[in-house]
Amino acid sequence: MNLLANIWANLQEKGITRTLSIIFNRMFDFHFDFKYKTDTRNRISLEDLTVTGENKEHGSFYQPTMALSFNRLLAAIPLPPESVLVDFGCGKGRVLLLAVLRGIKKAVGIEFSPELCEIARNNVRIVEQATGSILDISVIEGDVTHYEIEDDQNVFFLFNPFDDVVLAAVVKNIQESLQRKPREIAIIYYNPVHSHILDNSFLLKNRYIIGGEEYVLYADR
Ligand SMILES: C[S@@+](CC[C@H](N)C(=O)[O-])C[C@H]1O[C@@H](n2cnc3c(N)ncnc32)[C@H](O)[C@@H]1O
Repeated sequence: MNLLANIWANLQEKGITRTLSIIFNRMFDFHFDFKYKTDTRNRISLEDLTVTGENKEHGSFYQPTMALSFNRLLAAIPLPPESVLVDFGCGKGRVLLLAVLRGIKKAVGIEFSPELCEIARNNVRIVEQATGSILDISVIEGDVTHYEIEDDQNVFFLFNPFDDVVLAAVVKNIQESLQRKPREIAIIYYNPVHSHILDNSFLLKNRYIIGGEEYVLYADR
């Protein structure tokens, strides 16, 4: 879809205020990649990627979270102490970078496309060189359904990465992790298309529209 058609589709669906906000956010995304010389932008279809595992048909295409909107979200929401963030379907790693640059102690991304994992790891190296600091970021190649959540992980981020089938498996993983190690957690679901899956298992704390985008915040019960 070309730029004008994209703007027109957004105007129809989201109205003028949210569309203007999205345009402003896209400019900030461009600025992020320009500033660090990273590659975090551009939507990529799963058809154009190699995928590890059996859940390709359940997955969403790559599209990055808007940087400005995510930064504002992090400033607005209460997070558990000593936050360690997991991005389920981390793509090119933009959320991992933003989180650690905004003071989150550690970030882990799970991604089933080896090509995207490579780009994400390269982005981390580029930002480390640009900032002169080692960032505590790991990118793990694999399907989220095979990932075992670690005891220190307490902020779970999902940008509508997959359908209800895989989301239900991730919810089960989080619940099992909480049974093993009870702790305060936050789940951030951005573009919450399958929120009924989370509504049944966690406490809905708040909904946010930031930069024209919708996020839902859940906590453990
Ligand atoms: C909408 S993008 C979000 C990217 C990143 N989280 C962000 O917010 O910038 C969704 C990502 O999830 C990945 N994905 C989808 N299903 C997955 C699965 N079952 N296991 C691992 N990654 C998956 C896709 O390859 C894609 O990169």
